[in-house]
Amino acid sequence: MKKGLLKAVALGAAAVMSVAAIAGCAGGNKAENNADVANDNAGNKIIMGTNAAFQPFEFTTTSGIVGEFDGIDVAIAKQIADDMGMELEIADMEFDGLIAAVSTGKVDFVAAGMTANDERRKNVDFSDTYFTAAQVMVVAADNTDITKAEDLKNNKKVGVVLGYTGDSIVTEDLEIPEDKITRANRGLDLVQEVKNGKLDAVVIDSATGKALAEKNGLKVVEDSEAFETEEYAIAVKKGNTELLDKINTTLAEMISSGKMDELAIQYNE
Ligand code: ARG
Repeated sequence: MKKGLLKAVALGAAAVMSVAAIAGCAGGNKAENNADVANDNAGNKIIMGTNAAFQPFEFTTTSGIVGEFDGIDVAIAKQIADDMGMELEIADMEFDGLIAAVSTGKVDFVAAGMTANDERRKNVDFSDTYFTAAQVMVVAADNTDITKAEDLKNNKKVGVVLGYTGDSIVTEDLEIPEDKITRANRGLDLVQEVKNGKLDAVVIDSATGKALAEKNGLKVVEDSEAFETEEYAIAVKKGNTELLDKINTTLAEMISSGKMDELAIQYNE
């Protein structure tokens, strides 16, 4: 794990845990009856809304933790469900639709590497922070003229994912002109455009940017002055304090046991 790109929130002493204990998570730990929490869902299920195109937090693979779904958020959600004695179901959708899905009760919570911010707080409640990140710029390996965020203003063609915090940072904070911005639903599609020279940079979250850069022979440029720290949190429907408390309990336990750090290491390899 590279420093600065992805940080699990540290609370107290980290216990050493085996990776196997984290990865599998098979079988419930506690079988409490909490069917009231996901009141609209049949039986004993709790539904996580996500957008599984955000490695290492959520992605699809041949055999994931829940069906084809894998990643840090999936591991966390599985633990939340296990602690509640419930079965985890995953609803994969466009990132843009997640806030509406949780606020209308289509899903019980959103775990999607989602940055907690005031804009979103108008519509959902957020858990405690479980990871911190920052935006980075993914550029061609031989790029020398983008070394800081300001350089993007220099007539650069910039890609952002629709509705991500990177979108509002590029649009509102950096004020890149609209005709220089390309928006897509997946970071991967934008990174292809950097690869073939149609875009100069993609602005995206650090850990995902790093994963995409590594896979595509590109590089990551950081600018800690321009890009503030972002706090990832789980979103629930406004006022659902019962579920929020349970989520926070599981998060605190995963942080203090060192499990969160283990997940960061495991999924960044
Ligand atoms: N942290 C960024 C945001 O909140 C990007 C999250 C993207 N997550 C995803 N699962 N696609 O906007």
